Amino acid sequence: MQDPSAAPVVIVSNRGPLSFVTEAGRPVPRRGSGGLVSGLAPLVESGRASWIAAAMSEADRAAARPDGVATGEGLQVRLAEFDADLQRRYYDEVSNSTLWFTHHGLFDRVRAPAYDADWRASWDAYRRVNEVFADLVVEHAPAGATVLVQDYHLTLVAAAARGRRDDISFVHFHHTPFAGPSDLEVLPPEVRAELLEGLLAHDTCGFHTERWATNYRDCVRRFIGTDAATFASTLNSDLQDLRHVASGPACIRAGAELDQLVGDRMLIARVDRMELSKNIVRGFDAYGRLLERRRDLHGRVVFVAACYPSRLGVADYRRYRDEVVAAAESVNQRFGNPRWRPVELAEDDDFPRSVALLQRYDVLVVNPIRDGLNLVAKEGPALNVRDGSLLLSTEAGSHSELAPAVDSVFPFDLEATADAMERALDRDPAARSRLAGELRELVARRTPADWLSDQLAAAGEVAH
Ligand code: G6P
Repeated sequence: MQDPSAAPVVIVSNRGPLSFVTEAGRPVPRRGSGGLVSGLAPLVESGRASWIAAAMSEADRAAARPDGVATGEGLQVRLAEFDADLQRRYYDEVSNSTLWFTHHGLFDRVRAPAYDADWRASWDAYRRVNEVFADLVVEHAPAGATVLVQDYHLTLVAAAARGRRDDISFVHFHHTPFAGPSDLEVLPPEVRAELLEGLLAHDTCGFHTERWATNYRDCVRRFIGTDAATFASTLNSDLQDLRHVASGPACIRAGAELDQLVGDRMLIARVDRMELSKNIVRGFDAYGRLLERRRDLHGRVVFVAACYPSRLGVADYRRYRDEVVAAAESVNQRFGNPRWRPVELAEDDDFPRSVALLQRYDVLVVNPIRDGLNLVAKEGPALNVRDGSLLLSTEAGSHSELAPAVDSVFPFDLEATADAMERALDRDPAARSRLAGELRELVARRTPADWLSDQLAAAGEVAH
C-alpha cells in the first residue's frame, strides 16, 4: 500500500459538493457551502481527489447523464442515482428519521421509534444504497487510494467493499454527534450490531470532538465487545472563502437592508436549518422571557432569525417548521407594536444574507440540543465586525474549543438562556472587545486543510 498522505483520495458523501437547479430546462450547478466543500474542493480541483455522492434531485440526475458524472464550478462528481422509493427509505426513513434522531438524542421514547416490517424494508434500502456506493468505490477508486467516507448515511460502505479491493484504506468521518450506549439502545439489536460492525470495517473513525469518539468506543465495547480505532479532528470553515462572499455585492446589499431593518437597535441573530436539534423554539421562548422581565429592552432590540426549511420529506421537520413560525409569532403578538416587531424570521435560504447577519450581530444564538460541531459558531465570530458575543450550547461539539470566550447555556433551560442573552446584551464595550478578540483567535487556529490532513494522517497511522 502507498503512503496514504500522498495517495489518491476518494471522497464519498451523501450530499455532494455540487447541487443542480433547473433553469430554462437545463441543470445549472451551484457549489455547496460549508467547511466540507471548501476544505476538500482544492484537492478535487487539483485532480488528486475524486468525489462520489448521491443525486438528490431531478436536476442532479439530469446533470449526471449519460455517464453518471456531473461537472461544474471547476468540480467533478460521480452521482449515484436511486429510484424515489429507495431514496426515501434510505435518506428520509433511516438516515434522517432514525439515525439522526438516535445520534442527537431526539426521540420521545413514548412514541418513537416504532419498528415494523416497513421500517425493516427501509433498513434493507439503506444497506442497498451503501452497497451501490461500495460498488462505485470498488470500480472507480485508483490503486492504493484512501477513501474518506462521510457521515451517518454511509456507515456500511467499507464493509460492503472489503475483500474486493484490499489496496484501499477506508476512513469514516461522522459529522454528527455519536450516541452513547444508552441512546444507541433504541436501535434494534441486529441493526445496532450491523451498524457498529460497518464502522469497524474502516481503518479508523473520526469525530469532531473527543466526546463523540468516546461515545463510539463505549458503544463498540458494550455491544460488540472489542476496542475501536478513533481520532478527533475539528473542522473549520475556509475564512478566505467566507470573506470573499462578505465582500461581494449580494452580501453588501443584504447588509444595507439589514441596517435599514435594525436601525440603532441591538441585534440578536441566529442562522440555522429548521432542524429539530437546533432548538429554535426554546431560543424564541427564552427571548420572550427576557422581554417579559426587561421592559426597557422593548423597541431597543430585534431578533433576526435566518432559519430555512430542511428535510421537508420528513413529517417531524414539517411540523417543527410550523412550531418555529408559531413561536416567533407568539413573541411578536405578545410584545410587538406598530413600530417594533421583536422577531424577524427569514425563511429563505440566502447565504449572502446569512453572512451579512453574522457580520452585524451583537449576540449570536447557537443553542442546539446536541450538535456534532456547529460551524455557525465558528463562522460568526470570524465574520463579525461589532465585537458581538456568542451564546453557545454546552452540547455543541464546538463548545469544547470555544468555551473560554462564550456565554455557555444548557440548552433546555429557558431562564438560563434568557439570562445569557441578557448578560450578552448588557456587556460593556471593553469586555465585548476582549471576548470577541479571544473568539476570533480561537476560530482562526485551524483551516479546513488541517482537518483533511488529520484524516489522511489517521489513514497513514493504521496503514500496513
Ligand atoms: C449535517 C450532516 C450532513 C448533512 C447536513 C445537511 O451537517 O452532518 O451530512 O449534509 O447536515 O443536511 P441534508 O440532509 O440537507 O444533507
